[in-house]
Order: sequence, then C-alpha cells, then structure tokens
Amino acid sequence: MPAGFQQLGGETVTRTLALSVFTAVLGSLQFGYNIGVINAPQKIIEQDYNSTWIHRYEVPIPHATLTSLWSLSVAIFSVGGMLSSFFVGFISEWLGRRKAMLINNLLAFIGGALMVMSKICQSFEMMIFGRFIIGAYCGLASGLVPMYVGEIAPTSLRGALGTLHQLAIVTGILLAQILGLESLLGNSELWPVLLGVTVLPTVLQMALLPFCPESPRYLYIIRCQEHHAKSGLRRLTGRQEVGDILAEMKEEKRRMDMERKVSIAELFRSPVYRQPIIIAILLQLSQQLSGINAIFYYSTSIFQKAGVQSPVYATIGAGLVNCAFTVVSLFLVEKMGRRTLHMLGLAGMCGCAVIMTVALALLDTVAWMSYVSMLSIFGFVAFFEVGPGPIPWFFVAELFSQGPRPAAMAIAGFSNWTANFIIGMGFQYIANLSGPYVFLIFAALLLFFLLFTFFKVPETRGKTFDQISAGFQRHPTNMMGLDMDMDLVKASTELEYLGQDTLN
Ligand SMILES: *[C@@H]1O[C@H](CO)[C@@H](O)[C@H](O)[C@H]1NC(C)=O
Repeated sequence: MPAGFQQLGGETVTRTLALSVFTAVLGSLQFGYNIGVINAPQKIIEQDYNSTWIHRYEVPIPHATLTSLWSLSVAIFSVGGMLSSFFVGFISEWLGRRKAMLINNLLAFIGGALMVMSKICQSFEMMIFGRFIIGAYCGLASGLVPMYVGEIAPTSLRGALGTLHQLAIVTGILLAQILGLESLLGNSELWPVLLGVTVLPTVLQMALLPFCPESPRYLYIIRCQEHHAKSGLRRLTGRQEVGDILAEMKEEKRRMDMERKVSIAELFRSPVYRQPIIIAILLQLSQQLSGINAIFYYSTSIFQKAGVQSPVYATIGAGLVNCAFTVVSLFLVEKMGRRTLHMLGLAGMCGCAVIMTVALALLDTVAWMSYVSMLSIFGFVAFFEVGPGPIPWFFVAELFSQGPRPAAMAIAGFSNWTANFIIGMGFQYIANLSGPYVFLIFAALLLFFLLFTFFKVPETRGKTFDQISAGFQRHPTNMMGLDMDMDLVKASTELEYLGQDTLN
C-alpha cells in the first residue's frame, strides 16, 4: 500500500500532499492574521503615535494628523500587496513555486521586525514601512499559494484543497481577533508582540518547505525536467505509476509549446484569453466589492447598538461563523461545483444586505431590529465564505493553462488588492454620506455579479486544466458549449461517486 492515509473523492491524500498543502497555506494564515490584527489595538497604537509626537515636538498630535497616520498604517498594507502581486508571475517562473515561497519569507521577517521594533524606537515610520513590507509579503503569498496548491492537487480535489487557502486566511483573522483581546496581547505593553506573532508561521514554513516537492507541473512544463517531475508526482500521489498524469501534463505542454509566451497585454488582446481574463477579474472584484471588509469594519459598532455587553466577543463570533462556513464550502465545492456555490453565496449576501439595510434604518424606532441586523451580519459573513470568499482564489488558476496562468494570476491579484484598497480608503467617506443605506450599494453590486456569474462563468469542477482552456478555445464567444459538456462530466463524476459507494 502507498503511504496514503485517507480516501477523499476517490483520490488518495498522501502524507506528502497533506504536508505540502499545509506548509503552503501557512502563508495564507499570515495573510489573514495581518488583515485582522490591526483592528483591535487601534486605540492603543494611536496613543503611542501621540506620545511619540509629544516626545518629538512637545505638543499633542493634531487630530487630523493622527487620523491620516492611522489610515496610512492600515491602507499601506494593500499598496504593498498591490505592487508585489504584480510580480507573482515573474518570480514563480524564475525561482519556481517552492523557492519563491521560501524567499518570500524574508519579507515577512523584515516586515515583522520593523513593526515589533517601532514601539521601542518610537517611530511610526517604521510601523508604516513594516505594514508595507508585510503587505508585499501577503501579495506574493496570495498568488503563490493558490498556484502551488492548484498545481499539486489531483483534479478531483483541486477545489477542496484550493478552499484551504481561504480557510487559512479566515483562521488567521480569527487568531488575530482572539490574540488581540485586551487581556491577551491587545494592550499597551504587548501590542508589538501581537504584531510580531506573524513571524512564527514564517519560521514553521521555512522549516517544512524543504520536505515539500516542487510543483511537478512547473518542473515538467516550464523546466522540462521530466525525471524530477515524475519523482515529485510519485511522492504526491503515493503511486509508482504516474503515466496518466504525466500524459495529461504532456498534452498541456504540447499545447503550450504551440502558443507563444503570453504577456499581460496579450491576455486582453487575444480573443482566446479575453473571456477568461474578464471572468477572472470580475470574480476577484465580486469578492472585494461584496462589502465583506466593510462589514468587518462596521460590525463592532452595530453590535454595540444591539446592546451586546462586549462587542469584541460578537466580532469574534462573526470570525467563528467565518471559519465554520469556509469548512462548509470545503465539503460542498467538489459536490455542487464552483459556479453554483458562487451564485448561492452572492444571492445570500445580497438578501442579507437588503435585510441589514432595513434593520439599520429602523433601528431607532423598533428595538428588536438590532437583533435582526446582528443575524443578517452573521448571514452575510456565512454566505461570503460559501462562495465569493474561497472560490475566486483558485478559480483563476483553473481558467488558464500553464502558459498564460502566471500572467493571469498577476492580473487577478492586482485587481483583488486594488479593490481591497479602494474599499479600505473609500468606505468611510461613502458610509458618512449615505448612512445605513451604504449596504444598498453593495446589494446592487452583488446582484450585478450574480447575473454575470449566471450568464458568463462556466463550471470547472472535475475538469483538467487542458479541458477547461479547450472549452474557451472552442467557444471563444459563447460559453454555453462549455456548460453543456460540463453536464456530461458532472454525470460521469456522479457515476464514479456512485460506483465508489457501492464498492465500499
Ligand atoms: C495626546 O496626548 C495628550 C496628552 O496625554 C492628550 O491630551 C491628547 O488628547 C492626545 N491626543 C489625541 C489625539 O489622542
């Protein structure tokens, strides 16, 4: 028997595969941690900025200066991510997926060290620069991790394993929320430690990466190292005979050798790639412009209004819902498919946004509306993690073959981080202007993305990378063809499932 210890969807999850995916998503864990870590200690860090200012200029910091310094500390994270996500393609080709992840950890060390030292050195510049560097780390990780995981995963588990990226992100957010409690690390003495905790997964990842194989798809298709690719495949699948996977990769390589190297500009110019790249960008936008970050921003004040004793715990509750429903998605994504789950998530979020708006508008007149608004927040978060949270990350890697994939991942990452930045900077203004009706804007956007997904996005479950891109090439303008033969694939996978059930 091979070293497999678990049967999932008909594929053996070997120890090597489990270890490799776990090691990779430690990067996603840090990504989530750094998103979540900055909210709880805001007041305390602001006080330190103030005392630094007094120390330097002997006057208290002006209110407007403090606000801009704080906004900068928060938002420069996404600027770092925006810039570095653009280099994902280049770095992953040049160093390989595994070494790129290894080198990327240097950024986490530098960023973490700058943030930890900023209090002792009495320098908010160090804090801001540290946030920029750690943002750059997260930008690279948000591209490298889904790429590596997507490439080493067997076809029937690609979605489930891809969802682990998002699960690690939300676990990171939850971890940051819990450690950020005032009684733990979220106080004036320990906040540098809170920010520095981010280097712990870095150390673990660097220790484990040498035991993970490089992506065989990268080794074979990009580097032409058939021998190394084969031994990697053997370790990942636990089988001696990997000819079928190699044959599939050969076919992808043959196709890739026929196409010229795809640049970012070409992705938009070529009719073959235009459709999938537009889908990739809009899926990323549907994740960020759904308003999820605005919810996390608003939740504490809404929970306060709802009369919750400590809104901090309600926010942690939302974090738990966040994690729980990512697990739900993990189990559904290979059964129900990406398209269905994404639409379900968008529709549910849209409904919750409308209910939340009504509840917020009536909050002052109808007392129990506060509980409705609280429940609709939980619902909003839950539906997000069913589809729009996890799916866009790995869907991009699925839409493209090996040739254009890195360029496509760069574009998708850049769109995601840009939208993230726009929401981070712009939400406060829009919320001030439109009050409780701000979520109607998100409801309208969600409806648009729902319709787009319904009409334009194909199902990719159970298909090889090659079949997916072939679907676009056969029907560059009309994707319904892809939908149709997807039904056939669905039917045959269902039969496989049935066959397995009867065997067991
Ligand atoms: C800064 O600290 C001073 C002295 O402790 C305090 O009076 C002032 O209100 C603080 N300013 C802000 C913006 O927090």
